[in-house]
Amino acid sequence: MTARILVAVWIVAAVLGLSLAQSPARAEEESPEDLPAGKGRDEAFYGCTACHGFAIIRQQGMNRERWDATIQDMQVRHNMPEPDAADRELMLDYLAIAFPPRQRGRPNPFLNR
Ligand code: HEC
Repeated sequence: MTARILVAVWIVAAVLGLSLAQSPARAEEESPEDLPAGKGRDEAFYGCTACHGFAIIRQQGMNRERWDATIQDMQVRHNMPEPDAADRELMLDYLAIAFPPRQRGRPNPFLNR
């Protein structure tokens, strides 16, 4: 193998490595302000993004009962620590209003009542 081929391989690997390394960084730059405004937004954001980005959440549309089941699921399947009761209510209210069924994560224009 010539040195030139080695250099080319190294450059491709470096560029690939850089772009792979950068994708998780983008998720970390999320902030509550990226989500529709509403009571409980901070609680939901910080309570839910300890393990994954909010994108996985905002692409869902569910009623309050199913959001409740989802939080339970996070606790049972993924060891999410039990939020305190008041925070849990705030999170649920927020999720049910901001990401209701069939809304598909679009911002809710009626949220800022
Ligand atoms: C302790 C870690 C943890 C916390 C906190 C957490 N999740 Fe998850 N969640 C996971 C894991 C692990 C997955 C599945 C792996 C993946 O796809 O990233 C997941 C997946 C999901 C999914 C995709 C569907 C599914 O069931 O796999 C949704 C929706 C979801 N979480 C919602 C939430 C909401 C809402 C909160 C906040 C109330 C939350 N999560 C908090 C760990 C967590």
